[in-house]
Amino acid sequence: TPEDQAGAAMEEASPYSLLDICLNFLTTHLEKFCSARQDGTLCLQEPGVFPQEVADRLLQTMAFHGLLNDGTVGIFRGNQMRLKRACIRKAKISAVAFRKAFCHHKLVELDATGVNADITITDIISGLGSNKWIQQNLQCLVLNSLTLSLEDPYERCFSRLSGLRALSITNVLFYNEDLAEVASLPRLESLDISNTSITDITALLACKDRLKSLTMHHLKCLKMTTTQILDVVRELKHLNHLDISDDKQFTSDIALRLLEQKDILPNLVSLDVSGRKHVTDKAVEAFIQQRPSMQFVGLLATDAGYSEFLTGEGHLKVSGEANETQIAEALKRYSERAFFVREALFHLFSLTHVMEKTKPEILKLVVTGMRNHPMNLPVQLAASACVFNLTKQDLAAGMPVRLLADVTHLLLKAMEHFPNHQQLQKNCLLSLCSDRILQDVPFNRFEAAKLVMQWLCNHEDQNMQRMAVAIISILAAKLSTEQTAQLGAELFIVRQLLQIVKQKTNQNSVDTTLKFTLSALWNLTDESPTTCRHFIENQGLELFMRVLESFPTESSIQQKVLGLLSS
Ligand SMILES: *[C@@H]1O[C@H](CO)[C@@H](O)[C@H](O)[C@H]1NC(C)=O
Ligand SMILES: *[C@@H]1O[C@H](CO)[C@@H](O)[C@H](O)[C@H]1NC(C)=O
Ligand SMILES: *[C@@H]1O[C@H](CO)[C@@H](O)[C@H](O)[C@H]1NC(C)=O
Ligand SMILES: *[C@@H]1O[C@H](CO)[C@@H](O)[C@H](O)[C@H]1NC(C)=O
Repeated sequence: TPEDQAGAAMEEASPYSLLDICLNFLTTHLEKFCSARQDGTLCLQEPGVFPQEVADRLLQTMAFHGLLNDGTVGIFRGNQMRLKRACIRKAKISAVAFRKAFCHHKLVELDATGVNADITITDIISGLGSNKWIQQNLQCLVLNSLTLSLEDPYERCFSRLSGLRALSITNVLFYNEDLAEVASLPRLESLDISNTSITDITALLACKDRLKSLTMHHLKCLKMTTTQILDVVRELKHLNHLDISDDKQFTSDIALRLLEQKDILPNLVSLDVSGRKHVTDKAVEAFIQQRPSMQFVGLLATDAGYSEFLTGEGHLKVSGEANETQIAEALKRYSERAFFVREALFHLFSLTHVMEKTKPEILKLVVTGMRNHPMNLPVQLAASACVFNLTKQDLAAGMPVRLLADVTHLLLKAMEHFPNHQQLQKNCLLSLCSDRILQDVPFNRFEAAKLVMQWLCNHEDQNMQRMAVAIISILAAKLSTEQTAQLGAELFIVRQLLQIVKQKTNQNSVDTTLKFTLSALWNLTDESPTTCRHFIENQGLELFMRVLESFPTESSIQQKVLGLLSS
């Protein structure tokens, strides 16, 4: 909606809140504010007590920056901090550190997605279960992408958390027996068992009078017939959200069969069948017409979503690929699911042909997908192509600087992670080669220059070479004297730039590549004895004499050559 668009643009364009600035500063300079205990863990020096919301936000900020480890989580020991909604995503911590730092807090929520493999789900739950208050009051637990246990056989433990209302346990080797234990939790209302090893969902009948939300995306091991699955689902009368989406891998007719049921799931307001075969607009429409309070239907990577009824513009939201509204919904909902992110980005790219307006809200969704799947090549490829089209020429001018800074950071990460992938590097270079980004946006120009140089050393493509040296010459002019010196001190960089000058001189061709290369060399040698030594040792002086002789009438070349020689 237009309000969404204005919202995203405004949020990105306004300054960070004072709280965020403080938390980011504290997080990145944590050691300065701490002393070390005997065991090496950190302890805040200030004696004050943090308000609970601020403590939660601090923990979340540290998790976001990947800074949670045995040492840093030490600041959450004792009574200085009070946590309630704890996020320790991707923490690298031991079971002991987890227990000491987190299990004495009155936790209502814990998100432990993707913490390192040395700490198991069993460790986490027995830690939490050691606190009576948590046992009864922890409501929401997220254990995605973890290991259940290293013991075999292990002790089942979920039943200890009797207050649990919502459990998410995706991408885990989690079996039927575990499901049976979870389904008997007395207050369970919401369950996400996507991509687990469950073969039979009959155990869910134990919570049929409580369960309101069931997400079972890509249940790859399920060994039930469609009729058997539907018989269980039919009993879950209180469900208002059901997700049976898949990665397009199976030919099951479950989605179509479900849509054809007339008397099933009367309270449903949200149904996701993305990635399922045999889904038709007609069946979806008939299903929704019988349930007028439906608010969402997921149709990405199906053949449906194209009818007038399903545009996703009004009360009923639709994720799909038919138009921008549906694609945006898909990117929003599926940011954690790499396959769907890729699908949505792929379709977004084909839409960018006709986009004429700046769309910060769409670019922001691309950024989220990119950030969540840094090592997934198909996602990074599709995302970098979208970034280029969404920020091309005039479009970049309307993008908030902060958003462009996030984009640039992620493009550089992608270049770093996939150094040998031609198309990805090309997409990233094309996106970086923008006046707006190179001139106005804050990012690590030193790292960027190094990455681009590394690319340049391994590739010969003339157009890309011109772009790469253009980027380097602009970056070099914006670096501090120390940074240019540091960059020029990398021998390979000077050699490569001289190599390009030599090539152009031999070809007797004065072009932009030569001009940009000479500028970069000028900037890099300025006030840097090491770079100058590399320059001289690699026959730079002789080469530059030849340049002067070869292009006697080119004043722009002469100016750069003489500029360098006089530095
Ligand atoms: C599914 O879960 C397994 C672990 O059980 C994991 O290795 C795999 O990457 C997950 N698949 C996806 C698409 O996340
Ligand atoms: C989505 O598609 C419908 C027609 O199928 C159209 O009326 C609507 O304007 C489209 N929305 C956008 C944002 O393109
Ligand atoms: C997006 O990229 C494609 C392929 O490079 C191009 O054909 C199209 O014109 C681009 N669209 C915009 C808006 O730049
Ligand atoms: C960098 O190069 C440009 C010419 O391309 C020149 O105008 C500028 O003075 C140089 N800066 C330094 C610090 O050498």
